[in-house]
Amino acid sequence: MRNVTEANLTEVVIGAMAAAKDARLKEVLTSLVSHLHAFIREVNLTETEWLAGIQFLTTVGQKCDDKRQEFILLSDTLGATTMKDIINNRKPPGVTEYTILGPFHRASAPELPRLGNLAGDMAGEPVIVRGRVLGPDGSPIPNAALDVWQSDAKGFYDLQMPDLDGMALRGIFHTDAEGHYVFRTIKPSFYPIPDDGPVGKLLRALGRHPYRPAHIHFILSAPGYQSVTTELFAEGDPYLESDAVFGVRGSLVVAFVRHESGGEAARFNVPTPFYTVDYDFVLEPA
Ligand SMILES: [Fe+2]
Repeated sequence: MRNVTEANLTEVVIGAMAAAKDARLKEVLTSLVSHLHAFIREVNLTETEWLAGIQFLTTVGQKCDDKRQEFILLSDTLGATTMKDIINNRKPPGVTEYTILGPFHRASAPELPRLGNLAGDMAGEPVIVRGRVLGPDGSPIPNAALDVWQSDAKGFYDLQMPDLDGMALRGIFHTDAEGHYVFRTIKPSFYPIPDDGPVGKLLRALGRHPYRPAHIHFILSAPGYQSVTTELFAEGDPYLESDAVFGVRGSLVVAFVRHESGGEAARFNVPTPFYTVDYDFVLEPA
């Protein structure tokens, strides 16, 4: 094809992939090229802007190392991660919604008993999180596992605490025979995603902030059910309406109810004031 024009270029490039052996690769790249060409034409991309884009993606790559994944941050902040998550985790109504895993999950968190303290001796306002894990018909799921992790009261995960050896603020709980779970922790805080790189610079240029609303992460699993990765978000958080990575779902926002009564506190062996969060998770059969 010698005579490439604005009108036929997309077709020519797609035609150049005709011999691709991997049908899915061909399908994805065909769509990618079509959208990319349409985008360039739609915004009338200039030479300077094209080069700025190349330089931006180069700095995103250069910021990546074994601890920092700037491309995932870029995907998260552009909503690409959440769009991918939504289309791959469509759930029937009433089933607990999936949301973003984030970069702070660690395998082999310690097993903790009923009413065990996720926060250990970390400072913070005590919280009792309790509820049930149920099937869609409301039947309890005994011995469901809840893999839980969260930030501390200042918004830091254990992986971000230079003086800490080992794990903190993470643990695995199980439901009892009636599907009940209960654990103690501290109130997590909102926190910024890492914003000292090119993605942070882009957010500032777009008039955006880097914060995620306070949340507790969960992976729920039980034999015979689909596991779900999710988060519970604190009602009233200043960033609930503007999560930097678009992870909030209305069904996952919970009240942290404040209690002053010593009698209630004694029941859970916590000092006053303390908070309770009540939430029932619903899993979809496998
Ligand atoms: Fe998080």
